[in-house]
Amino acid sequence: MFTQTLLNWYHQHRRDLPWRHTQDPYAIWISEIILQQTRIQQGLDYWLRFMQRWPHVEDLAAATQDEVLRQWQGLGYYSRARNLHAAAKQIAALGHFPDTLEDIRHLKGVGDYTAAAIASFAFGIPAAAVDGNAYRVLARHYGIDTPINTTQGKKLFTTLAQSLLPADQPAAFNQAMMDFGAIQCTPQSPRCILCPLQDTCDALHTGRIEGLPVKQRTLTIQTRRITYLYLRCNHHTALRRRPSGDIWQGLWEPLLTTDTLAKHMPLPEATAQALIAQAIPLRQNVKHILTHRILLADFYFLELPTRPALTDSYTWIAEDQLDHYALPRLIQILFEAL
Ligand code: ADE
Repeated sequence: MFTQTLLNWYHQHRRDLPWRHTQDPYAIWISEIILQQTRIQQGLDYWLRFMQRWPHVEDLAAATQDEVLRQWQGLGYYSRARNLHAAAKQIAALGHFPDTLEDIRHLKGVGDYTAAAIASFAFGIPAAAVDGNAYRVLARHYGIDTPINTTQGKKLFTTLAQSLLPADQPAAFNQAMMDFGAIQCTPQSPRCILCPLQDTCDALHTGRIEGLPVKQRTLTIQTRRITYLYLRCNHHTALRRRPSGDIWQGLWEPLLTTDTLAKHMPLPEATAQALIAQAIPLRQNVKHILTHRILLADFYFLELPTRPALTDSYTWIAEDQLDHYALPRLIQILFEAL
């Protein structure tokens, strides 16, 4: 009943998206990783550019990390781009795209949802892809208040979705759940009056549409203060690549002079303070929100006739070459103040 009604609705309302016209697992995989990060409209542009630049997985595997990060710029959460690149190398080394659910799940950056999405869309494997849309549709229709961000909730909703998935149409079912959640059973103001599942929707009959799905509250978010200094010396500026084990791994940043959460600062405190003392403040308290942190950034500018001694992690880069370096969104915003 649920499944048939959902599929009927899908045949009338489905969105026409380019990655639904291909069975190429590479193209589908790229679309899924991008769509974890952004809405369809923006995702479409990124997907088209990725596919144009790297039409096959071997092309992506042969790119440099900087090229991939640059192409990803603006989407945020850069570990996704690094994982994408690492997985492309895994696939290229294997010689073909993995074609079982388990093998797809072993690709770097591919979780249960993404593995099931690729397996069902590209290979017709009957695996339920349970994303935020599916959680919402199922929690409401079946009146389930188990928190969706717990191990128990994940298990429960996955088992339910799997039991509803028709083995002969896994791709249509998974896409239908996504579209139904995105168009009909939306987070705010769902269209219950026009819903083909209204007769059997538990949340609708018990007045719990607003209250479902349930999410367990997570930890409070820390605020981190950082101060950057843009040094200019004969049309060059000093940048370093962000190290591993922290935010923005692999992206580039100007001279970091304070950081409330850094374990090791790249510059000695005295050097940093001496430079900042001569510098011109450009922006103060620029607020930038990341997944697990709020950043408050100060930004200074200083032009010097000769290059000061910096630690090895910094490289002097010609300012007309800055376009070739992948920058976090916050740094782009700060650079705009120059
Ligand atoms: N979001 C994630 N994957 C999607 C897909 N295949 N179609 C539409 N939206 C999506």
